[in-house]
Amino acid sequence: MASPCVRGRRWLRAVKMTFFLCFLIPMAAARIGNTNTIFGQKQKLEFNGNGDIIDCVHIKNQPAFDHPFFRNHTIQMRPSFHPEGLSFDDVSSKPESEITQLWHLNGRCPEETIPIRRTKEEDLLRASSVANYGRSKYPQFDTTDTNKTAIQEVQLNRFELNDIYYYYYYNAIVFVKEDKYYGTKATINVWKPQIQEQVEFSFSQLEIFGGNATTEINAILAGWMVSYTLYGDYNSRLFAFFYNNKVINQTRGCYNLLCSPGFVQINKEIALGGSINPISVYAGSQYELHFLVWKDIKGGGDWWLQVGNKYLMGYWPASLFVSLSESASQILWGGLVINQQKKEQHTSTQMGSGHFPEEGFSRASYFRNLQIVDGSNILRFPKQSYIAATKPNCYNVTNFINNFYYGGPGRSPNCP
Ligand SMILES: *[C@@H]1O[C@H](CO)[C@@H](O)[C@H](O)[C@H]1NC(C)=O
Ligand SMILES: *[C@@H]1O[C@H](CO)[C@@H](O)[C@H](O)[C@H]1NC(C)=O
Ligand SMILES: *[C@@H]1O[C@H](CO)[C@@H](O)[C@H](O)[C@H]1NC(C)=O
Ligand SMILES: *[C@@H]1O[C@H](CO)[C@@H](O)[C@H](O)[C@H]1NC(C)=O
Ligand SMILES: *[C@@H]1O[C@H](CO)[C@@H](O)[C@H](O)[C@H]1NC(C)=O
Repeated sequence: MASPCVRGRRWLRAVKMTFFLCFLIPMAAARIGNTNTIFGQKQKLEFNGNGDIIDCVHIKNQPAFDHPFFRNHTIQMRPSFHPEGLSFDDVSSKPESEITQLWHLNGRCPEETIPIRRTKEEDLLRASSVANYGRSKYPQFDTTDTNKTAIQEVQLNRFELNDIYYYYYYNAIVFVKEDKYYGTKATINVWKPQIQEQVEFSFSQLEIFGGNATTEINAILAGWMVSYTLYGDYNSRLFAFFYNNKVINQTRGCYNLLCSPGFVQINKEIALGGSINPISVYAGSQYELHFLVWKDIKGGGDWWLQVGNKYLMGYWPASLFVSLSESASQILWGGLVINQQKKEQHTSTQMGSGHFPEEGFSRASYFRNLQIVDGSNILRFPKQSYIAATKPNCYNVTNFINNFYYGGPGRSPNCP
């Protein structure tokens, strides 16, 4: 069904594997669609299938520009440099690791348009209001009390999900701090963790973090996630997210393209929020995605996102941020579960593959090739990294040099 998309890579030289990476958006037909009332665009090409509808929307009509504050924004079609030292022709012509979304079988978005996963009425009904859709409050990682020698239980943090209910978040992460960072690159193993309660989330992501609680916090995230609340199913989906703890230039942040001002997409191949397929199989084929985020310090200061080796997705404009307008103070990689803690019990919502790090390759989920962009705008391996896990008995992390395993099954006799 799915076509081969990405060629194999090596994992610690031990296992060579062939894998295909595709986005699963099976398509029935391509036709000129009707009006999308949510984003208020007029005519567009529409690809329909299996729960997702992809609209090809003119790049100038994308949601980021709905807010008057952003109407005068000049779209940047490419950043001024690439942290791997590549020219943009090199990047776009890279032969390996082509990502294919299944709606490509029925056509492609034309030049000057971008594919947008349509927000449906049911999606909005699940959210507490239209205004809140895609804007769930985001918990911050607490990385103040951890060090490399020991994994410590950081204080369990509670946060408000939708102004009424409190949820708990659990992480298992590797991070760097105490320097100025201008981006990060990482390769993330792709799985489909089981979710017990509809309101729970499971993320595997990189995070670029700036500021502190006394000033303002800005964060940029990218990776894959499972969330029924956002998407109405339990598929693993590509996502991008940004967050401000204060309103900055009319926005606090949201997922994908769900707010204005917000992420500006320039890529016509890949839809943010699109499902990912195939998924890694326990003790079987492994699939992974590359992510690169960097600050265009030589250009406008925007934060760019690349997925795979050659898909320049777009950027978060510099004007969305205060602390990240300079540089980031932390980079974090790993898993995050938002758990409802129903009846004071931990639920069986999984992180990563749902298996603990000690199970190792093809059983536990991994990140590999962790890199940061330094003050010279060069990608390099971090000098020192730290690990943290909220409850290692529920979800744990094991760090190797520039690679790590993370995840767990959630509820168990050791994780009551
Ligand atoms: C956009 O440009 C118009 C015309 O130059 C100007 O009147 C308006 O104030 C600008 N809006 C913003 C938010 O900068
Ligand atoms: C790291 O953690 C260990 C164990 O909790 C502790 O003994 C040590 O002092 C910590 N080191 C630093 C630099 O915080
Ligand atoms: C928070 O950031 C500001 C600005 O960078 C700095 O002056 C302040 O010391 C920081 N506060 C803490 C508690 O780290
Ligand atoms: C908001 O945007 C303007 C122009 O885009 C920028 O000059 C300003 O620094 C931004 N930040 C805040 C906090 O207003
Ligand atoms: C979590 O992983 C660390 C290694 O990173 C290990 O030392 C520790 O024993 C693990 N904890 C549990 C509860 O499995």
